[in-house]
Amino acid sequence: MRLTYTVAWGSFIFFRMKSKELVLVTGAGGLIGSEAAVFFHAQGYGVVGIDNDKRAYFFGPTASTAWKATELQKTLPNYLHFNTDITDKAALQTIFATYGERIRLIVHCAAQPSHDWAAREPYTDFSINATGTLYLLELTRQFCSKAVFIFTSTNKVYGDLPNSLPLVEKERRFEVDPSHPFAAEGINETMSIDQCTHSLFGVSKTAADLMVQEYGRYFGLRTVIFRGGCLTGPAHSGAELHGFLAYLVQSAVQRRPYTVFGYKGKQVRDNIHSADLVMAFAAVLESPPPPGSVYNMGGSRHANISMLEAIDWLQERLGYAINFTIDEDKARKGDHIWYISDVRKFQSDYPSWNYSYTIGDMLGEMVETAIAKKSIS
Ligand SMILES: NC(=O)c1ccc[n+]([C@@H]2O[C@H](COP(=O)([O-])OP(=O)(O)OC[C@H]3O[C@@H](n4cnc5c(N)ncnc54)[C@H](O)[C@@H]3O)[C@@H](O)[C@H]2O)c1
Repeated sequence: MRLTYTVAWGSFIFFRMKSKELVLVTGAGGLIGSEAAVFFHAQGYGVVGIDNDKRAYFFGPTASTAWKATELQKTLPNYLHFNTDITDKAALQTIFATYGERIRLIVHCAAQPSHDWAAREPYTDFSINATGTLYLLELTRQFCSKAVFIFTSTNKVYGDLPNSLPLVEKERRFEVDPSHPFAAEGINETMSIDQCTHSLFGVSKTAADLMVQEYGRYFGLRTVIFRGGCLTGPAHSGAELHGFLAYLVQSAVQRRPYTVFGYKGKQVRDNIHSADLVMAFAAVLESPPPPGSVYNMGGSRHANISMLEAIDWLQERLGYAINFTIDEDKARKGDHIWYISDVRKFQSDYPSWNYSYTIGDMLGEMVETAIAKKSIS
């Protein structure tokens, strides 16, 4: 009965979307996927979303993204959702065979996104991040070879090499010695991805990153890779093992104790809002770069913060002390001590793109969201 209803509803939406160009979003319930789905739907595209709420399996029910997928289905008339696993090649093939001709853009966001979780189930991690990406690339080649294919990669492709930069310990954060070329603007795409410790997650994402480049260079597909710093936004279903700012803000608002994983709380991350990232996606759709182009993308010098600075900011905003401890034994293997993205390559190729969120805007929005969630729970 339930299946019949879903199929009938799907056909109804399919009928309505029949004449539309489509954007296919994997990980559509997640932070970036949902932002992309809403944005491109507002641009007039029909959106085909794929997400099987695997995030709840990774991190538990509080990290579930099912709420967001449901919201998309309720609020976007030309949105069609598939509760499909991206490791299910046959199911993906059916989706591509049905919609491929009209797909103009693929935004591939579905992933096992955590460093630490990958070591628990290496096969699961690799099959989603690497093999799932290969399936999507190959199906794109077969069914919609003119589409732009955006891959949300990660700065973890650089493994722990950023930790070999000459770090300088300041009172509330680490910095890079000003004499180093990466100190002023951050780490650019010339950093090696080789011969360093990545974590299993870093390796599965690197494999995918290289494959996405290769489908661009070898087959000429319009592939683009964004190597993200920390991505944040109100739709982040924060979990201890992924989405550090969202999780910190949730813990602070709910007055739950928070554990900082090592480095004296002085580790630095750059943060970009999901809306600003999606504007970058829109820019490459409008004018695709050479196939297989790679861009580092994050908050850059514009928006970065250390754990201690984030805690300071929150204490001031909330007006009470946050209950936190720093556990040096929990410092994560291969974790970055200082990472700031140099986004100048993207800015030079797309000069009209710019940030609309500061770090304060992002934190403020996350606090509002966490307070709203607390009052309804
Ligand atoms: N959030 C960050 O800080 C960050 C930083 C760098 C790179 N990235 C990358 O950006 C992308 C998007 O990140 P996000 O923060 O939106 O992640 P997210 O976890 O919020 O969203 C990913 C979505 O993919 C879904 N998913 C996972 N495995 C799936 C599978 N096998 N089949 C179908 N759906 C599946 C999840 O249920 C989830 O809703 C990911 O590829 C991630 O690696 C994220």
